[in-house]
Amino acid sequence: MKILGIETSADDTGIALIEAEGKFGPDFRFEILANEVCSQKIHAEYGGIYPNLAKREHTQNLPLLLKKVRDVSSTVLDTADGKSNVDVIAVTVGPGLEPCLWTGIIFAQELSKKWHVPIVPVNHMEGHILISMMEEGEFAQFDLPALALLISGGHTELILMKDFRRYEYLGRTRDDAVGEAFDKVARLLGLPYPGGPHISRLAEAARNSNLEPDFKLPRPMIDSDNYDFSFSGLKTAVARELQKWQGKTLPLEVKKQIALEFEDAAAEVLVAKTLRAADEFGAHAVVLGGGVSANKHIRSELASKLETVGSKLLVCPSEYSTDNGLMIALAGYFHALKKEFADPSTLKANGTLKLPTA
Ligand code: KG4
Ligand code: ZN
Repeated sequence: MKILGIETSADDTGIALIEAEGKFGPDFRFEILANEVCSQKIHAEYGGIYPNLAKREHTQNLPLLLKKVRDVSSTVLDTADGKSNVDVIAVTVGPGLEPCLWTGIIFAQELSKKWHVPIVPVNHMEGHILISMMEEGEFAQFDLPALALLISGGHTELILMKDFRRYEYLGRTRDDAVGEAFDKVARLLGLPYPGGPHISRLAEAARNSNLEPDFKLPRPMIDSDNYDFSFSGLKTAVARELQKWQGKTLPLEVKKQIALEFEDAAAEVLVAKTLRAADEFGAHAVVLGGGVSANKHIRSELASKLETVGSKLLVCPSEYSTDNGLMIALAGYFHALKKEFADPSTLKANGTLKLPTA
């Protein structure tokens, strides 16, 4: 089956084409025929995403990306009689920014009509989970129950998976998502959006030169008796630390110290809570997904701590951590197998869409 995946939930426009076969499980195989992403640069100077700007950019990018997909894949997207060799169109319908989601939905509707191809609606977070469960074109070997830790610009969620594709929310952030905290701290340090990779680079430089911060940031809710998170206090604590430098130029060494201490604090909280949940629910594996899972320090801390309790970390190559059409095509395939097609005219964007619970 050939699936075209379309992603427009935030500021990355993505279109991918995959060919997949087999049921959910060890028989499953897939091949990437094309995976084109355009990360909108326009938000860099504003320190965050402006939904209406993002929407305009998606509308411009989508046809350009489709053209690229057409150029790099050998699949015939438009035959002479107006059809295509694509079997299914998968499109993100939520969660995310609704004006942005709508651009992808409308684009999918137009293609569906033109090509006479069915549409499957996809939950963005399920895309992040599924892509992290893959290892070189097939499913990674692991036993259930497993946990999913989803960390992105809009979400911080700890989820229990007792069965495949049945999710139980254990906890989530009460305020800012961890990626949002990375972005806000980056902004305080005068770094462009998205700030996560910039903070991470500074922190790594600090770690490599054994720089010791001369202050401590809090580890919010690390000992609380639940699986919720809170990251806005961490950003406030950084702002307070920076007050010392008001009216003065912030030295690079101080930026590095802040990045290091902030990244350590965020990682410690995420790792501690995930480990506690892994212990409580006997999780054999943790699926790490979402843009922040590109973070090397969080990955390596989580992997090494999980190893000590006999649990395995599943995470996708970092190039697929941030939003892309590939993860949507992948999730879409499993919906298509179950014939979960939608009437294109009834598709709706849902900014707060939840994963299906048992
Ligand atoms: O999943 P994603 O692409 O979009 C959302 O669904 O939100 O995640 C984007 C987030 C941004 O907040 C970005 O700063 C963060 O992922 N991010 C990182 C890194 N790379 C991206 N955060 C920390 N370290 C990174 N290396
Ligand atoms: Zn995402």
